[in-house]
Amino acid sequence: MPLLDTPLELPAELRPRLGKARRAVAFTGAGISKESGLDTFRDVGGVWQQVRPEDMATLDAFRRRPAVVWSWYAERWGRASAVAPNPAHFALARWEEIFPYFTLVTQNVDGLHPRAGSRRLIELHGTLAWARCDFCGFRLPMGEAVAKSPDRPPVCDCGGLLRPAVVWFGETLPPGAMERATEEASLAEIFLSIGTSGNVYPAAGLIDVAHQCGACLIEINPEPTPFSRLAHLSLRAPAGEALPALTEAILACRPPNT
Ligand code: OAD
Repeated sequence: MPLLDTPLELPAELRPRLGKARRAVAFTGAGISKESGLDTFRDVGGVWQQVRPEDMATLDAFRRRPAVVWSWYAERWGRASAVAPNPAHFALARWEEIFPYFTLVTQNVDGLHPRAGSRRLIELHGTLAWARCDFCGFRLPMGEAVAKSPDRPPVCDCGGLLRPAVVWFGETLPPGAMERATEEASLAEIFLSIGTSGNVYPAAGLIDVAHQCGACLIEINPEPTPFSRLAHLSLRAPAGEALPALTEAILACRPPNT
């Protein structure tokens, strides 16, 4: 039984804004990939209940136990490649055609957004799809790196170790990523936050930036978050149901070719 009434009825006071907006940003977290079959981090049974972040998601952990950390990420990469994008990922790929200026900012490393067709994408926490040398920065597709060496990190020609190209706790975000995302959030007329608990900074700060700069804030999450009280519209439903419904509702209030 769907949780939302479909077609979704947008609040009358938001319709003109959503109908006219030219700049939109979507900000995604692990919840958008839940219906594809991937675990979130902080829900019951989530990734950080299976392992401790300090044992798997820090440079120090990698240096202490490279084989353990590499194998864990190789398995996560295998799982992410084995599942398919869901209707929420595909709906967001369509937002690139709906809005003249659209940016998708994701905290996810699972690669499902690009596989669903999203191109205007900032991957704030890096990606599982690539391995990179811890020393010289050389990059290799994760599939090739894992095929070469499933149980321990492959050794680079420079002598360094290859690691997953994700951002670990205590590391800086990819160069320029947060600056570009902040700029887009500050200009956004619509800011859509989907499937994130809003716990991890600096990424979660984008929601505040968009709110302070006057964006219409929409949240999709079955559970309330620290940002729910700021939202102009909260859809308490799974992303795979809510995002296609929201997309159709926004399209219905936009004149053709806006
Ligand atoms: P969390 O696990 O913290 O939050 C996932 C959110 O998704 C929760 O608020 C859930 O209520 C919501 N959720 C669950 N099922 C959903 C569904 N079907 N549709 C929509 N929402 C759903 O994950 P993130 O917020 O992504 O960083 O976590 C942020 C960062 O913390 C991650 O990028 C990762 C982690 O540590 C690093 O590893 C650097």
